[in-house]
Amino acid sequence: MPPRILFAANDQRWAQYEAPLRAALAEAEIEARLDCDLSDPGGVDYIIFAPNGPVEDFTPFTRARMVQNLWAGVEEVVGNPTLTIPLTRMVDTGLTEGMVEWCTGHVLRHHLGMDQMLAAQDGIWRHFEFIPPLARDRRVTVLGLGALGAAVCASLVGLNFQVRGWSRRPKSLPGVESFHGDDLPKALEGAEIVILLLPYTPATDGILSTDALTQLAKGAVVLNPGRGGLIDDDALLAALDTGQVGHATLDVFRTEPLPPEHPYWAHPQVTVTPHIASETRPSTASRVVVENIRRAEAGEALLHLVDRSAGY
Ligand SMILES: NC(=O)c1ccc[n+]([C@@H]2O[C@H](COP(=O)([O-])OP(=O)(O)OC[C@H]3O[C@@H](n4cnc5c(N)ncnc54)[C@H](OP(=O)(O)O)[C@@H]3O)[C@@H](O)[C@H]2O)c1
Repeated sequence: MPPRILFAANDQRWAQYEAPLRAALAEAEIEARLDCDLSDPGGVDYIIFAPNGPVEDFTPFTRARMVQNLWAGVEEVVGNPTLTIPLTRMVDTGLTEGMVEWCTGHVLRHHLGMDQMLAAQDGIWRHFEFIPPLARDRRVTVLGLGALGAAVCASLVGLNFQVRGWSRRPKSLPGVESFHGDDLPKALEGAEIVILLLPYTPATDGILSTDALTQLAKGAVVLNPGRGGLIDDDALLAALDTGQVGHATLDVFRTEPLPPEHPYWAHPQVTVTPHIASETRPSTASRVVVENIRRAEAGEALLHLVDRSAGY
């Protein structure tokens, strides 16, 4: 019997993913039944999952061997008590490239002071006192050195930025001064730009706190394409108001969509982007999903297995 794959995400995602998934299955020469039919959960072998889709209770999927999350972040499913089979998350070249481009673009925006130039398109040829330092003299700290953080570090190192990084366990990345565990203050000390690429877990909730913000250089820039819960919002707003933080570009929020009355929208030193830093790309992501199904069928180790105790 060919394996049965249930696509458990909303209809819009099915429209985006059906053709690339079928193409990836054909490419891998895997014969499988792929559909969104929830009527026979006991007959499902693999579940392709996204939050806010039709599946919340995994109990009826008695035969299922793997849940493949379509997104990189798993905070909405990792604690589901009905999920007892392996959970894998998305690491996708398209997603990674998109994140590198978003982060590099926003770092350069602030590094080069682009906002000043955009605000001065009024026919007056000014003499600007502001000469940006070279990247080699700009300190950038990346919190989270996983699939995305490591790739962002590589891009920034390639542009000569002084890059520091922080992770849970020790990490060695070319050109990056790495810190881990309790050394967060050292990783942040004097940083002029900080990028949050951590997963949202109990250990990272509110990690960008008043104490953490105090470590940064005065007027530092915060970029958050990770998760909204990484930031203590009151602490950040206070730091923006005192000038300890000069600007925050925020892509993710504790509540999404960000409510219209939230102070971030109106704050002159905040840029809000609507969780668009990087999207999973169906064509490349489908190959990752299918490779994991191939591995499961062959009894091989799964890619990007979530460590349930660590929460990511
Ligand atoms: N805005 C968007 O469009 C978008 C798109 C994709 C992803 N994201 C977000 O980006 C996050 C990162 O993705 P990823 O694929 O790079 O994840 P990943 O490969 O799992 O990497 C996570 C990194 O965070 C570190 N970390 C986790 N808990 C920590 C802790 N308590 N203290 C210090 N470091 C800790 C890990 O340390 P170790 O190396 O020691 O494990 C690892 O370096 C996702 O979880 C998601 O929230 C956002």
